[in-house]
Amino acid sequence: MIFRARHLLGIEQLSPQEIVAVLDLADRYVDLNRRTVKQSDVLAGMTQINMFFEASTRTQASFELAGKRLGADVMNMSVAQSSVKKGETLIDTALTLNAMHPDLLVVRHPSSGAVNLLASKVNCAVLNAGDGRHEHPTQALLDALTIRRAKGRIQRLTVAICGDIAHSRVARSNLILLGKMENRIRLIAPPTLMPPGVDDFGCELFDDMAAGLEGADVVMMLRLQKERMDGGFIPSEREYYHRFGLDAEKLAHAKPDAIVMHPGPMNRGVEIDGELADDINRSVIQEQVEMGVAVRMACMDLLARNLRADRGMKATGVLV
Ligand code: NCD
Repeated sequence: MIFRARHLLGIEQLSPQEIVAVLDLADRYVDLNRRTVKQSDVLAGMTQINMFFEASTRTQASFELAGKRLGADVMNMSVAQSSVKKGETLIDTALTLNAMHPDLLVVRHPSSGAVNLLASKVNCAVLNAGDGRHEHPTQALLDALTIRRAKGRIQRLTVAICGDIAHSRVARSNLILLGKMENRIRLIAPPTLMPPGVDDFGCELFDDMAAGLEGADVVMMLRLQKERMDGGFIPSEREYYHRFGLDAEKLAHAKPDAIVMHPGPMNRGVEIDGELADDINRSVIQEQVEMGVAVRMACMDLLARNLRADRGMKATGVLV
């Protein structure tokens, strides 16, 4: 078995072969998801708990659908009404849930490292659905699948990641994944939105869109993470859009067949022009959402196989 991980905490811990294993299996789940009957029994009898300590629409919905299509019993823990609000610590919440014998725990948390900590306290498989500015592994995997399906490969591409890189776990996980797969990465952002230590990633750095987008195969836009900003990172949204917002004119510097990506939620007219985001000839934003469900199914399938092997149970088949 190529995929050996017990948890999916970050791209950092995955080998290139494991990344390819997830993408290959996810391709098969894309086919399943396009059928009228989208049912598999890979997680039948298993319990999946989604714990989102931060607002989420697409990621939570995507994990929920993924689990249900694989036949798991899925529970969404409503953190807003939970005992966390009464002062319970993350560890106590984790131990309480652990006592209910879940098999898969999907966690999003505003603090970097919180999901890793939690994983060390429970005996089920933990999937990181985004922790602070640290990692968002399923997002990077779904982005990789979207790129691979559009470009036919996930190596030797020039990928421009633009915008609020400093606060973005999406950027961080993508940087690690694209680096492992030997792509050329350009980061384009105002100096205030470049993360500290960015030089260690071996990317080319730009603070000008025209220069940074030159010859790019993939243009990945990021949301301005206002909730993680505590002061003046940008002069104004208007000024930011003028210099760093992606529109058709700026995109003309990239390759003629360059694809446009955005993890969502989008601020139209701030980091991306609304018309361009909707242009099905350039934008793959909707494909990213579709790939998200398939990638999460693949990740949970692979983790469940390892869980069964750990527990000495017979593995069930994947797709028939
Ligand atoms: C991202 C996130 O939460 O990190 N969204 C997502 O998962 N689709 C990016 C963002 O919030 O900007």
